[in-house]
Amino acid sequence: MSQQINVGLIGFGTVGAGVAKALLEKGRRLERRIGTRIVLRQVCDRDFRRSRGFRLPASLMTDDPWQIVRHPDIHVVVELIGGLEPAKALILEALRRGKHVVTANKALLAHAGRELFAAASLAGTDLYFEASVGGGIPIIKALREGLIANDIDALLGIVNGTSNYILTQMREQRLSFHEALLAAKHHGYAERDPSLDIEGRDAAHKLAILTALGFGVQVSQSEIHVEGISKISQADIQYADELGYCIKPLAIAKQVDHELEVRVHPTLLAKSHLLANVNGVYNAIYVHGDLVGSALFYGRGAGQNPAASSVVADIADVARNLASGVSQRIAVNHAPHHGIRRLRRMGDIETRYYMRFMATDRPGVLARISGVLGRHHISIASVHQKERRAARIVPVVMMTHEAKESNVRNALQTIDRMAFIKQPTVAIRTEAPRSK
Ligand SMILES: NC(=O)c1ccc[n+]([C@@H]2O[C@H](COP(=O)([O-])OP(=O)(O)OC[C@H]3O[C@@H](n4cnc5c(N)ncnc54)[C@H](OP(=O)(O)O)[C@@H]3O)[C@@H](O)[C@H]2O)c1
Repeated sequence: MSQQINVGLIGFGTVGAGVAKALLEKGRRLERRIGTRIVLRQVCDRDFRRSRGFRLPASLMTDDPWQIVRHPDIHVVVELIGGLEPAKALILEALRRGKHVVTANKALLAHAGRELFAAASLAGTDLYFEASVGGGIPIIKALREGLIANDIDALLGIVNGTSNYILTQMREQRLSFHEALLAAKHHGYAERDPSLDIEGRDAAHKLAILTALGFGVQVSQSEIHVEGISKISQADIQYADELGYCIKPLAIAKQVDHELEVRVHPTLLAKSHLLANVNGVYNAIYVHGDLVGSALFYGRGAGQNPAASSVVADIADVARNLASGVSQRIAVNHAPHHGIRRLRRMGDIETRYYMRFMATDRPGVLARISGVLGRHHISIASVHQKERRAARIVPVVMMTHEAKESNVRNALQTIDRMAFIKQPTVAIRTEAPRSK
């Protein structure tokens, strides 16, 4: 005879409704697969009148989330309201009461993960969070279990579908940033206030979670260098394209010597790069480990069903653990991995750069620019002067060899003060494909 676990769901919004629907409609099939019956016992939301496209029995509904975390018969609390509070207080109370918790709340985990995992450890219960990164892609399980034998030295992710959709539309449809943002809103891929997505902060939350799992390093949000995509222009997308690159919103965690780089910014990728063809709202996370080499995880990074797929997988894991009488099977490890001593200062990172100068079209300009770059130890790989025609101000596009970020910043400060430079210079970092 199969066992039974009772689930309390807090938040009946996009993801919550998907989870409730999956549990109600696929309960029998799930039971056959995992050997435990998963029963949706109670669902909390502020407002049940809004249509979610399926009928939830009225007997399950409550508007009091505390009723769920204190319910004596509920084994697993699923937090899907988002935000920092009261989500954090509810999770802590559920853990304190010996309940297992599943959440998709990346913002909360990025801000208070250490405290929440310590509370779970103290209570001897589990806190699962697969849907917090990559929506339906099981990257958390891959990092915690499938790749555990590896010393990981690089994690690169396209982890924000909104930003990726906007940059893809700009490239494929030749839209401006604002037109592409409007298209994203029109298709429901961008929130009414999209700033968390387009300014890179959502990706930074996810990067903090990936960094903790991949490298055992806890980074605070202020330690991650974050640049959004709102300054990327149609012109740069086109010039990059002509040079054989595309621009992708990347979250990067990389070990270089004894330091760890953690940064989120638009990045030029050669079209041959594994991540270059991840388009639209799709997400992908590239992992490089010493044993596995390169591995790529690709799929839908958001949306009701993909997120529900991950949340239900977490519930199933808790059910299996309960059935075998184990918990805390996979502890979250906070010890930095092999050889990482500190985070690398942003000024110390080294990459190749794409630069676009907007300069008056007159003799000697190129020599002056390259002179300043040379004095800052930046060597030029190629120069492309665009649209000479009759325009008085012309774009000069350069690709550099590897250069140090602080040298690039200092050089551009000097160059942008020169009278013939008519707009602030655009500099975009590149990421080279791994050779193995
Ligand atoms: N949407 C996705 O594709 C996706 C993917 C992965 C992870 N996530 C994460 O999943 C979580 C939920 O996202 P979502 O998109 O489902 O959000 P959502 O659609 O806004 O759903 C949240 C629901 O919770 C309700 N709620 C908020 N505070 C409450 C409270 N104190 N008591 C009772 N109900 C409350 C909201 O009601 P009101 O509308 O009245 O506020 C809303 O119905 C977030 O942490 C998000 O980051 C989302």
